[in-house]
Amino acid sequence: MDRFEYAETLFVKEDAILQEIKADIRRRGMPEIFVPPLIGALLHWLVRVRAPLAVLEIGALGGYSGVWLARGLPESGRLLSLELDPVFAQVAQANVTRAGLGDRVQYRVGPALESLSQLEQEGRRFDFFFIDADKENYPGYLEWALRLANPGALITADNALQNGRVYSSQANDESTQAIRRFNQTVSDHPRLSSLLLPLGDGLVVAQVI
Ligand SMILES: C[S@@+](CC[C@H](N)C(=O)[O-])C[C@H]1O[C@@H](n2cnc3c(N)ncnc32)[C@H](O)[C@@H]1O
Repeated sequence: MDRFEYAETLFVKEDAILQEIKADIRRRGMPEIFVPPLIGALLHWLVRVRAPLAVLEIGALGGYSGVWLARGLPESGRLLSLELDPVFAQVAQANVTRAGLGDRVQYRVGPALESLSQLEQEGRRFDFFFIDADKENYPGYLEWALRLANPGALITADNALQNGRVYSSQANDESTQAIRRFNQTVSDHPRLSSLLLPLGDGLVVAQVI
């Protein structure tokens, strides 16, 4: 056992519902690219502590991170999740409904950059963001999150380490370059107070100040 397994065994409560969502994703042959339980638990904890009324997730897959996030919401809190693939969005909706959270979570289908622009036109604002979709668009998602953020909002983003490619001089693919730009922008941004937590594949956590 290493220190991560020790911490996870003791503190991360991944119950049968969350395990069944992962099994459902596997059975359907969908990509197994949901967050690890420790990141799910951290997101849940951040939502619980922050008590946001409006949470925006970018990248739903089958609803695994959605359930971690939605379970932390206060009574009147709601999660809106953006997903490109209509079948994935349906699977996610069915899974959050099975988890008893169907009335708290909505999915919006389409390219997230288009959905984000619609949300601005609708005057929507959010207190918490979780970015976990196509890596090339992370810099664009950050710009939108800043535009749609209420004061004090938290912006979180997964895969900030790209399995080590962000700090490897050998890696120069488009996703890695985009994540490097994203990390640099968050770190330097005058409106953000931020950290990169080297857990899982790296979680960026930033507060809009
Ligand atoms: C890493 S998975 C999300 C995993 C999920 N957050 C979880 O942990 O359970 C990324 C998701 O983003 C979606 N996606 C990719 N490009 C997108 C885009 N341009 N707009 C919206 N969603 C996109 C993919 O279809 C996929 O479901």
